[in-house]
Amino acid sequence: MTSLETRPLVGRRHPRPDLGSSALPSVPPQYAADFDIAIVGLGYVGLPTALAYHHAGARVLGLEISPQRISTIRSGDADLLDSDRARLTEALRDPRFAITDDPTMLRRATAVIVCVPTPVDHHLVPDLTMLRSACDSVVANAVPDQILMLTSTSYVGCTDDLLVTPLVERGFTPGRNISVAFSPERIDPGNDAYEHESVPRVVGGATPSCEMRASAVLSRYTARVHRVDSLAAAEMTKLLENTFRAVNIALANEVADICRELDVPVTEVIDAAATKPYGFMPFLPGPGVGGHCIPCDPHYLLWQLRERRVAAPMITQAMSEIAARPARVVERAAQVLSDAGRGLGGARVLVVGVSYKPDVADLRESPALEIIHGLERRGAIVEYLDPLCPQARMLDGRVTETVRDPLGFAPDLVVIHTRHRELDLSWIDERHLVLDASYRELAVPRRVTL
Ligand SMILES: NC(=O)c1ccc[n+]([C@@H]2O[C@H](COP(=O)([O-])OP(=O)(O)OC[C@H]3O[C@@H](n4cnc5c(N)ncnc54)[C@H](O)[C@@H]3O)[C@@H](O)[C@H]2O)c1
Repeated sequence: MTSLETRPLVGRRHPRPDLGSSALPSVPPQYAADFDIAIVGLGYVGLPTALAYHHAGARVLGLEISPQRISTIRSGDADLLDSDRARLTEALRDPRFAITDDPTMLRRATAVIVCVPTPVDHHLVPDLTMLRSACDSVVANAVPDQILMLTSTSYVGCTDDLLVTPLVERGFTPGRNISVAFSPERIDPGNDAYEHESVPRVVGGATPSCEMRASAVLSRYTARVHRVDSLAAAEMTKLLENTFRAVNIALANEVADICRELDVPVTEVIDAAATKPYGFMPFLPGPGVGGHCIPCDPHYLLWQLRERRVAAPMITQAMSEIAARPARVVERAAQVLSDAGRGLGGARVLVVGVSYKPDVADLRESPALEIIHGLERRGAIVEYLDPLCPQARMLDGRVTETVRDPLGFAPDLVVIHTRHRELDLSWIDERHLVLDASYRELAVPRRVTL
C-alpha cells in the first residue's frame, strides 16, 4: 500500500480519462459472459446479495474459498432470514445460480462484486489480508469491459489501492476498458424489516462512466441508487454511517448509566424522546457491540487518521466506551450478586443469548464472549443458553455447548445478553435473579437492568 500521506488518489473526483461507455471496447468472444454477476465471498452479506440478484433474474456466480461455507450453503442450511432461505432453496435448483472456489471463473462474469470480511486484529488495526487477497484474484482475472465493485467496508482510498492501481499496472484504464466502483453494503442480517431491494445503495466510481455502469448493475435488484462523485466519497459514506451508530450507542450507554444513577427508567425516556418526529433517532443501550461492523469500521477511519496525526477524540472516546461495556456487565453482575448476599466466586451464572444481536447466529466480536471470560476470571461457573448457537468458541479457545435445561443448571444469576425471538424465557421465575443487559422489556419478578 502506498503511504496515506503521499497518496494522491484519495478523494479524487474522476480525474482519469473517461471515454464514456460508448467508447468501451467490446468483450472478446472468448470472454463472452456466462454470468451477469459474480459475488466474491458468500457470507452474511455476499449470500443474500447473490440471492437478491438471482431473484431479480440475473445469472449469478458465487466465489467462496471456504469449503465448509460452500457445503453449508449447498445444504440450504445457512444462517439467513426466512425470505432469503426460500430464495436459496429456489436458487440451488437453478443452473443459473452457481457456486465455485475457482477464481478463474470470475473471467466469465460481466460484473464482479467483492464482499469479503474486513476485520480488525487484536490491536484494533485493520486486517486487510482477506480483502487484499480477494482483490488480487479479481485483478488477476479481470477481463476487458468488466465492472468491478468493492462493497466491503474499508478505509478511504482502499478501492484505488487494491483495484484501480493494480488494474492500471496490468494495462487497464478505468473508464475506458474496465469499470471500477465502490458501493457500501447496507444489509442488516437478521432484520427482516427492510427488504434488500428497498434499501438504497450509494455508489461512487473511478470515473463517471464507471459510476454509471456500476449503478446499472446495482439497479438490477435495488430500486434506488444514490450516486456520489468519487470512490472516496462512497467509502467515507459507509464509515460515517457506522461511526454515527457507534457514537450514538456509546451515548445511549452513558445515558443508561445516568438514568440508573438518577433512578429514571432509560427505555421509557428513549421511547418518549423518540416520539419527536425530527432531530432525534432512538438508539438502545446494551452490553456492548459485536458483529462485523460497529466494533471494526470506525477503527479503519481512526487507523487511517493516525498516519496523518489527526485526532478524532469523539470517535475514539465512543469506541473506548463501547469496548469497556462488557467489563461493566461483569462489574454489575458482581454488584447484583453482592446485594443478594453472595460473591461472584463460585456463583453459577447463565448467560442468555450469546450472538451479538437478536435472530442471528453470528458470534463475531460478541460482547457475550468477553462477559463470559470476565465472569470466569472472577471465579464464576458460567454456562450459556442460545438456541441459535448450539456451540460457541470461547475467547480461550474452548468450544462449549448451550445448556439444554436451564433449570437443571440452577443459576444464581441469569444475565440476559441477547433476546432472540425464538428464545423461551418462560422458565424464569421468582427463584431467579436476572441482570438484563439487553434493556428490552421482560416481565420477570427479580429483574435489574445494567
Ligand atoms: N455482516 C454485516 O452485518 C455487514 C453489514 C454491512 C456491511 N458488511 C461488510 O461486508 C463485508 C463482508 O462481511 P460479512 O459479514 O459478509 O463477512 P462473512 O465473514 O460473513 O463472509 C465473508 C465470506 O467471504 C469468504 N472469503 C474470504 N476471502 C475470500 C476470497 N478471497 N474469495 C472468496 N471468498 C472469500 C469467507 O470465507 C466468508 O464466507 C465486510 O467488509 C463487512 O464490514 C457487513
